[in-house]
Order: sequence, then C-alpha cells, then structure tokens
Amino acid sequence: MTETQGTAPSRRALIGWGGAGLALGAAAAGGAVAMAKAGDDMDPAAAEGGGAVEFHGVHQAGIATPVQDRLHFAAFDVKTEDRAEFVQLLKDWTAAARRMTAGQAVGEGAYGGLAEAPPDDTGEALGLKPSRLTLTIGFGPSFFERFGLHDRRPAALADLPQFPGDNLDRSRTGGDLCVQACADDPQVAVHAIRNLARIGFGKVAIRWSQLGFGKTSSTTPDAQTPRNLMGFKDGTRNIAGTETDRLKKFVWVGDEDGDARTSWMTGGSYLVARRIRMNIETWDRTSLQEQEDVFGRDKREGAPVGKAAERDEPFLKAMKPDAHVRLAHPDSNGGITILRRGYSFTDGTDGLGRLDAGLFFLAYQRDVRKGFIPLQRRLSAQDALNEYIQHVGSAVFAVPPGVRDPDDWWGRTLFSKEA
Ligand code: HEM
Repeated sequence: MTETQGTAPSRRALIGWGGAGLALGAAAAGGAVAMAKAGDDMDPAAAEGGGAVEFHGVHQAGIATPVQDRLHFAAFDVKTEDRAEFVQLLKDWTAAARRMTAGQAVGEGAYGGLAEAPPDDTGEALGLKPSRLTLTIGFGPSFFERFGLHDRRPAALADLPQFPGDNLDRSRTGGDLCVQACADDPQVAVHAIRNLARIGFGKVAIRWSQLGFGKTSSTTPDAQTPRNLMGFKDGTRNIAGTETDRLKKFVWVGDEDGDARTSWMTGGSYLVARRIRMNIETWDRTSLQEQEDVFGRDKREGAPVGKAAERDEPFLKAMKPDAHVRLAHPDSNGGITILRRGYSFTDGTDGLGRLDAGLFFLAYQRDVRKGFIPLQRRLSAQDALNEYIQHVGSAVFAVPPGVRDPDDWWGRTLFSKEA
C-alpha cells in the first residue's frame, strides 16, 4: 500500500479541512495519502507503512484487512431509549470514524474553536500518521431487544453456550455494541475509541474494553507469522485477506443467508470475542516436548509434527489425539473454517504475583452456529491446551456490511424501513 507520498500530512495539518464532503479524507483532499482498499481484494503490501485504509467498501474494514499491530476493543451498552437519537449517534460515529481512519481530527479539531466549549477532538493523535486505523462496529444479541428490532436479529447471531472450563467474568462479557479499533500505533487506536465514547456520552457507555499489543494471527501469509505469548507462531493456517473465494464461503454473509427481516446483514460477518487468560507461570515450567505436543507444531519453525516447514500440510494422525492443531483443523471438524484476528494482552498482575496475560481471541465467520460454537465445543472438551488457559470473557456480535459511500452510515441497512 500505501506509504505516504513525501511527507505524511499530520493530523494537525488536516484539522483545517474539517466539514462535510471530505469523506475520502487525505486522498480526496490532495492525494497526499494513498488509500488501501478495504474488503476482500486487499493489497497484502498494506501490512506495511503508516498510511490510511479506505473506510468505505462493501465490507467493513478491519476483517480481511492485513492485521495491524495494535488493538483497542470496546463493548458498549446503549443508554438511550430514543431510536432517533441512537440513529443520529450512528451517523455521528460514522462521520468521526471516516475522518479518524483518514488521519484527520474529529469535527473541527482539538483547538481553534470556541474557547467556552470542549474541543471536538481530544488531541492526542495530532501529528500521528493514520497508522492503518480501521474501525469496525458490531451489534450484540441484547441490542435487538431495543428499538423494536426484535425480529431483525439473525439466527446466525446465536447466544454462546456455557462451554466446559469457562470462568466468565460478567464485567468482561457481553455488550449491546462493539467497536474494534486496530492500528499500527496504539495511541491512534486508543484515541479512536476514546473519541467515539465521548461522542456517545449519555447515549452509550463503555461496558468493558481490551487493549491488545501483539497480533496473534495473520491474514497475510507472505509476511512473517507472529508469535503468541506461549512463544509459538500463531496464524499460520488462517484465511488470507486476498482469498476472495474462502472469504465468501466462510466469512461474508451472503444473500441466501437471510430472509427479508435479516437481509440487512448481507456483506457483513459475525464476530466472537473471547478473553483467554494463559497460565503463563505453569506454561513456563513445562518442558519443550510437552509444549510442542500441546500444539502439534514445533516451536522454532512452527512446522507440523513430522514435517520440516511451517507451511507444510499437517499430517494430523502424527499429532497427539488432544493436540490443539489436530482438534482445530477443518479436517477434524467437517470443514469448519474461521478467520482469526486475535491479539496478545498483558493487563498487569493479578495480585497473586501472576501475569494477567493471554490471548484476546477474535474470530469472524459467516454463522456462529457453524463456526465458533461447534469448534469450541470440541476444543473445550478435549484440547490439551486447556490445562494452560482459561476463557474469562466472552461476547458475540453481528458486524453489518460496509459503509458504501459518504452518504452512508454504520447500521443503515438495519434501521432502514424497507429492509
Ligand atoms: C489461548 C488460546 C489459544 C492459543 C494460544 C492458540 C494457538 C494456536 C496455534 C499456535 C496454532 C497453530 C498455528 C496456526 O495455524 O495458527 C493454532 C491454530 C488454530 N487455532 Fe488456536 N489457539 C488458541 C485458541 C483457539 C480457539 C479458542 C480456537 C477456536 C475456537 C482456535 C482455533 C484454531 C484454528 C482453527 C487453528 C488452525 C488449525 C489448522 O487449520 O491447522 N484456537 N492455534
């Protein structure tokens, strides 16, 4: 992608460009920032550089987009009961997201406005590059109990059952809405969530949020596979952002998936978020052989048992019957395939001297009933990894299709009368 050409325009320089009609942000305003395309025909080279990712598209950016380095994920609860007020918030959020993903400050910017009023933008991203910021919105099951939307809830947005071993903390579970902010600069991601929360004050409130600092998955197979906090390459076998056919088959909701009440999801996807705590201290005292047996891959190369290279096709029968990869592989699950997009987290220590660290697991799929649920049923019952992890937070969201153009807004298809 998407290196900035010449000197990248700072957010500060862009503030003065405020106002309507600048939806294509920096690119439209002088071509200073080249845009990567969102959706299923993403240029893998977009994994590099500090440029902007196109906000508009058939699908929301932040799903098939090459995975950025940092995450700030927020779940919100809706506080207003006024449908018109909430729709206006979605429009305001969309306008702010459009600007922030283009590297621009929100509204009129962080200074220069009325001295008596708080500035439109909080200011901490001034001077920073767009950093490939993507903002992706989703609606949780509880959202459909509001605003007369009950019959618009798709069956594919299934409630997750209690899985064996789940130890869910209610204060890190559920949510009416979510916004996933991914960027290569953590301050850009945090700035985005903070400003959306500020705009939503009184109408929505953050229920919980999670920072992620190291990607544990890849949608760009040509790039080096990142490692998770257990030290293993993670994301080797994932759906690539360029695999249009597999994205269509396993990730994007198709026309045929809904009826008149749920067709608003066409072009969207379903997101499962799980906060998975790792028993790091136990893991660190485990032998290398046991660690490799748990995954069914070697630690150095990431090669499947009995194979030499990371990308070699796994021979599942060579792995222990309870190896994670053997159990999670599509061949063991009737072909189930999900798009993983998780991040490592470390939230300090837990008061007992143990790191509160693990994997914030994010997975996109076309139908939760045919993706995460059956896969996790199997893993929660049999996976050797269970001795070293615990699922402590959980949420599921319907992620609507992309914002098509400057007049469109997040969730329009859900709220439009004719859908
Ligand atoms: C802390 C928890 C987890 C860790 C540390 C972890 C780690 C890994 C590692 C190292 C691999 C091998 C490399 C790769 O292909 O990406 C892998 C593969 C995989 N994992 Fe996990 N994983 C975790 C949780 C989960 C969960 C909850 C699911 C789904 C319910 C899942 C689904 C998969 C799938 C589908 C694969 C690819 C299997 C294949 O096609 O070969 N993982 N995981």
